[in-house]
Amino acid sequence: MDQRLVMQLLLPCLLVLVFIRCASSEHWQIPELSMSMRTSSIMISDSTYDELPPDEEIHFYTQTLDHFNYRPESYATFQQRYVINSKYWGGVNNNSPIFVYMGSETSIIGVAASGGFMTDNAPYFKALIHRYYGDSVPFKEADQNASTLGYFSSTQALADYAELIINLKKNLSAENCPVIVFGGSYGGMLATWFRLKYPHIALGALASSAPILYFDDITPQNGYHVIVTKDYKEASESCYNTIRESWSEIDKVGADPGGLNLLSQRFNTCKPLDSTKELKDNLGLLYVIVAQYDAPPDYPVTKICDAIDELPEGADILSRISAGFAAALNITFRETGCKNVVDLKPSKMSRWQWQTCTEMVMPIGYHENETMFQSNPFDLNKFIKNCQNLFGVTPRPHWITTEFGGHVSCIYTNYLF
Ligand SMILES: *[C@@H]1O[C@H](CO)[C@@H](O)[C@H](O)[C@H]1NC(C)=O
Ligand SMILES: *[C@@H]1O[C@H](CO)[C@@H](O)[C@H](O)[C@H]1NC(C)=O
Ligand SMILES: *[C@@H]1O[C@H](CO)[C@@H](O)[C@H](O)[C@H]1NC(C)=O
Ligand SMILES: *[C@@H]1O[C@H](CO)[C@@H](O)[C@H](O)[C@H]1NC(C)=O
Repeated sequence: MDQRLVMQLLLPCLLVLVFIRCASSEHWQIPELSMSMRTSSIMISDSTYDELPPDEEIHFYTQTLDHFNYRPESYATFQQRYVINSKYWGGVNNNSPIFVYMGSETSIIGVAASGGFMTDNAPYFKALIHRYYGDSVPFKEADQNASTLGYFSSTQALADYAELIINLKKNLSAENCPVIVFGGSYGGMLATWFRLKYPHIALGALASSAPILYFDDITPQNGYHVIVTKDYKEASESCYNTIRESWSEIDKVGADPGGLNLLSQRFNTCKPLDSTKELKDNLGLLYVIVAQYDAPPDYPVTKICDAIDELPEGADILSRISAGFAAALNITFRETGCKNVVDLKPSKMSRWQWQTCTEMVMPIGYHENETMFQSNPFDLNKFIKNCQNLFGVTPRPHWITTEFGGHVSCIYTNYLF
């Protein structure tokens, strides 16, 4: 896919990242980290983006709570939010296409407000918000326990989208207008699955950065971190080497008496470090986040590597890494004073974690041979135990797969235009 297009679709995520410092850790791409990251369950609140562009209107649809049961309580409803921009639409008479942006794990308002691909190109832009995110939450205390969260799944979300799109087309007398669905990241997975499952509703799907094959052993465990590593290696070979060597250096210094204090000083942490793991987890998380949201005009990976490489010859590894750390925090969180090392220990649950603990079990692990990170293989038993502790649920994945063709050829050639 065109690089510019990918960037534009990713832009909303970047904005999200800048506004809410911990939300990014709950994103799908780092479930291994998010499994242990419970510091915040902040979801973008709509107030972050209280100004919608003038062409966009907010609507609500009375959505069915449970599309897959016929028990009386399944007929309960909730208000699902969606956004419409019809400025560029050719209209019913021309059978103009309708572009639908599938909301994922944030409020849709941010996506709508940040513009980019959808609004630049959409003949008719409709953004749908995923149940349990933003304002489309069926229960007040939605994240209280498994009874209320039980209705929270991608399958239900896809059915929401199907019902809403059909209903809206009917209201607009636009039954003959083809629908193309779009999405990035988890939203891209939804777009792909939607096209597979509801081919009569969506004529095409465009999925950007959608890890639809990161399940079972289809994609190698370390796939994600290998690509992150490649980003750094491409930015600078010496930067990559410095990062690679830094983990054991941190361990070595941290093991000395007074070593943790020394590390706290060298990295200018706001609170003294409790362990080297704390520092390493934060560094690892930053490298990953920055690579994932790497985008012009900032090119943050290059900036971090510049900070690491720029120190004069003879500078030690810790000085370089702490310079990179400062640059990363400045870029990512606009943090310029002392460095907040986020507590990554399990504490609080987020809505996205519910999804990873039910269906979205992505086995992301990595080995130091193939990445710049210290080895950390995916441990399913640990993952399951954590989910049981957090939500009292055991993962029971049931994502959509297909029998047609090869795994990859099918998804990429038959189902995406
Ligand atoms: C969940 O919370 C509701 C309301 O607080 C309660 O009635 C219900 O029994 C709880 N369910 C579980 C599985 O804990
Ligand atoms: C279509 O119109 C009906 C009747 O006005 C309304 O209840 C429903 O919410 C509309 N559908 C959508 C998707 O907005
Ligand atoms: C932080 O980033 C800003 C904007 O890129 C830059 O102007 C500033 O020099 C940086 N500050 C530090 C301490 O790196
Ligand atoms: C890592 O590299 C070492 C040395 O080349 C090798 O013995 C080992 O099997 C490798 N491990 C993996 C998981 O690739």
